[in-house]
Formats: sequence, C-alpha cells, structure tokens
Amino acid sequence: MKKLTFVGAGSMAEAMISGMLKSNLIEKNKIWVTNQKDHNKLMRISRDYGVNTSYDLKELFSNADAVILAMKPKDAAAAITLIREYLTEDMLIISVLAGISISSIETLTGKSLAIVRAMPNTSAAIGKSATAIAVNKKVTDHQKTIVKQMFETIGLATFVEEEQLDAVTGLSGSGPAYIYYLVEAMEKSAVEIGLERQMAKQLIVQTLLGAAEMLTKSSKAPEELRKEVTSPGGTTEAGIKVLEDHGVQHAFISCIKEATEQSKRLGSMLSSEIETVKQPTLK
Ligand SMILES: NC(=O)c1ccc[n+]([C@@H]2O[C@H](COP(=O)([O-])OP(=O)(O)OC[C@H]3O[C@@H](n4cnc5c(N)ncnc54)[C@H](OP(=O)(O)O)[C@@H]3O)[C@@H](O)[C@H]2O)c1
Repeated sequence: MKKLTFVGAGSMAEAMISGMLKSNLIEKNKIWVTNQKDHNKLMRISRDYGVNTSYDLKELFSNADAVILAMKPKDAAAAITLIREYLTEDMLIISVLAGISISSIETLTGKSLAIVRAMPNTSAAIGKSATAIAVNKKVTDHQKTIVKQMFETIGLATFVEEEQLDAVTGLSGSGPAYIYYLVEAMEKSAVEIGLERQMAKQLIVQTLLGAAEMLTKSSKAPEELRKEVTSPGGTTEAGIKVLEDHGVQHAFISCIKEATEQSKRLGSMLSSEIETVKQPTLK
C-alpha cells in the first residue's frame, strides 16, 4: 500500500496506527492523519508515530489507496460530505463507525466505492480487539486480505455478513464492559469477605487470564471445564447454585440480546438521520 489516510485521530485511529507500525505492516511515511480541529492532538500523533498530518484535503487524499473513517458516528455525515469529492473509485473505504451501514456510507459518498465496515472493541488500545469485518461487493479478495492484516495488528479479526454486525456489537463490541462489570462484583465481594482490595484485584485478574487461556488452549467446552472444577458438595458447586438461583446465565443471555437490539435501533436512527441530511452544509 502506498498511502493510507485516517479521517479522525482519536483512540481507535491511534490504536490502529500503533498496531500497524509495530507489526511493520506499513511504513510511517505512508500514513496520513487528519482530525476536525484538535491541532495539538494531531501534532502529538505526528511526534509519537512519525506519520504525516494535514488539514489540506487534496494533500490528504490524492493517490490514497485506502481511507479509514474513524470519527464518531454523529460526525460521520458532515465529515463524509466534506471529503467525498476527493474519494475516487479506486480507493478502499474502511469504516470503524459503530452503527453506520455500508448503504449509508454509499449514500453519503454518492459514489460506487469498495467499502469495508469493521466493528473492533476497546481492547484495540492494547492490541487485543475482537474485530468483525463486513464488506460490500466491490471489495476485492486482495483488499480483503489487506484489511484482515490491518485489523490483526490490533487483535483477532474475522469476516461476517453485515447483518451479523449488530450481534457482534452486542457480544464482543460491548463485551469488555460485561467482563468489567463481573470484576466489579468480584471486587465488592472480596472486600465483604475480608480481603484487601488491591491484592484481591490481582487474584481476580489472574483468574480471568488463566480461565481465558484455558478456553483458548483446551479443546473442551466451557461447560465441561466448569463441571471439571465443580466437585459434588464442594465450594464451587455451592457458589454456582447461588448464580443459578438468581438466573445469572439467563441474565447474561438477555443482556447480549438487548445490546444487539439496541445496536439495531441506533443503526436505524443513524440511517434515518443520514437519509434526511444527504446534503449537509460543508464545514
Ligand atoms: N474507541 C473504541 O474502542 C471503539 C470501538 C469500536 C468502534 N469504535 C468506533 O471508532 C470511531 C472513533 O472512535 P474513537 O473512540 O476513536 O473517537 P474519538 O477518540 O472521539 O475520536 C474521534 C476523532 O474524529 C475526529 N473528527 C470528528 N469530526 C471530524 C471531521 N469532520 N473530519 C475529520 N476528523 C473528524 C475528531 O477530531 P477532533 O478531536 O479534532 O474533534 C477525533 O480525532 C467511532 O465511530 C466508534 O464508533 C471505537
């Protein structure tokens, strides 16, 4: 790739820039970055990563092979309208915008472009995202390979159908927060049962890491692994019984379904807004 342009210089853009440079997927002088107004942030990104930064749209987009849309979804309509005259049909558009469909991006650009829509999660910041990727028909196999490599620099990446992205959002997009919520509960209990908070946190995090690694390395299903550590009349059985009495597994299932529905609702709202602002005023 000769040139890759980021529109948006926030946490997701920075995670991707950092991941791609660390993995030597692209040289720093081939990356261009812009944002809306935060000059200091752009200068800091340029200083830290040695990438090019600019507010000159012609300079940013001329001869770019790919453009990454990395602004907040609420800013997408204005940003895409501003840049669309610089987008050409040989460019690959990669969007990380939560909830904005490929069709909405096609509407906003008003062009027939190869478009990729990715749903990473917040663990991208430490190179551990679980990213799902959907593409439109214009994306070539070669472009798919490049995009997968890009997202693999910030964690795991897998292709899905676009219709599945709401489910991915409900499962792994919001997933880190569910785990943090569980850890909050474990920390509260630790204090109540007489453990010191900091030491308890270390035990909890190591327990999570160990369980995650077991799930990665073992061929056994989670249910089997759980049953193996649950001896009759033992402590784990007593604890799990309380979780079952409270319907905790059912609550988790409902939580993920509700997050998926909310992703669908937010997506439809954004699509309707985009349909009504097809021609927003330029910045
Ligand atoms: N962060 C995550 O973990 C995560 C996970 C999944 C998906 N995402 C998606 O990634 C996208 C970015 O999220 P983020 O957390 O990185 O957001 P962020 O930190 O708020 O950064 C947004 C960036 O977009 C820039 N921007 C806004 N309007 C613009 C315009 N018209 N032209 C150019 N740049 C513009 C902002 O510039 P200024 O600062 O100058 O205003 C800022 O640099 C979102 O759509 C989000 O849905 C993020």
